[in-house]
Amino acid sequence: MLINIAVLVSGGGTNLQALIDAENAGIIKSGKIKLVVSNNQNAYALERAKKADIKTAVCLKKELGDKFEDTIISVLEENDIDVIVLAGFMSILSENFTKKYAKRIINVHPSLIPSFCGKGFYGLKVHEEALKYGVKVTGATVHFVNEVPDGGEIIMQKAVEILDGDTPEVLQKRVMEQAEWIILPRSVEKVCAFYKGEN
Ligand code: GAR
Repeated sequence: MLINIAVLVSGGGTNLQALIDAENAGIIKSGKIKLVVSNNQNAYALERAKKADIKTAVCLKKELGDKFEDTIISVLEENDIDVIVLAGFMSILSENFTKKYAKRIINVHPSLIPSFCGKGFYGLKVHEEALKYGVKVTGATVHFVNEVPDGGEIIMQKAVEILDGDTPEVLQKRVMEQAEWIILPRSVEKVCAFYKGEN
């Protein structure tokens, strides 16, 4: 039996696209993307999911308030989800949520953890801070999610060079192309293969 994967998104969804492409290419072979959940109804990631015939759900914090996470959990349970991938999901999950899915939530972060990570470090901001500091190497990290933001066990990392004249936007694109889109699908396959072997 394949492992059922849900991908949680908020924005453009290029990492979601990398996962869809990896499933089609057989790189992800132990799991299947069954559901995409967005906390933003305008996320382009939703269009990518629809084009790939993947079921979508939108859960808005401003409408759901305290019920935001419980609603997501209900949707995950209704769809028998085994593994959750945070692919540019811009909301920190509470301990209640992360404990329920211990070692079953995977996040991609656009730096080499423990640099430029934790609360407040997301999206372009991470690359702005790396350039401001002047580091010469950055990269991406895929890790399990626990109650500490960006603090869970590391699954894979890949380094990316910073070049003279980089802007945050140029660096973000290089980190995605050379690291995130490669290690996220591989990590998802690794975790799915582990759980598939357990069944
Ligand atoms: C990616 O760079 C991802 O690593 C980052 O947001 C971007 C989402 O892009 N995530 C974080 O910063 C989480 N802390 P995408 O929607 O095109 O995949």
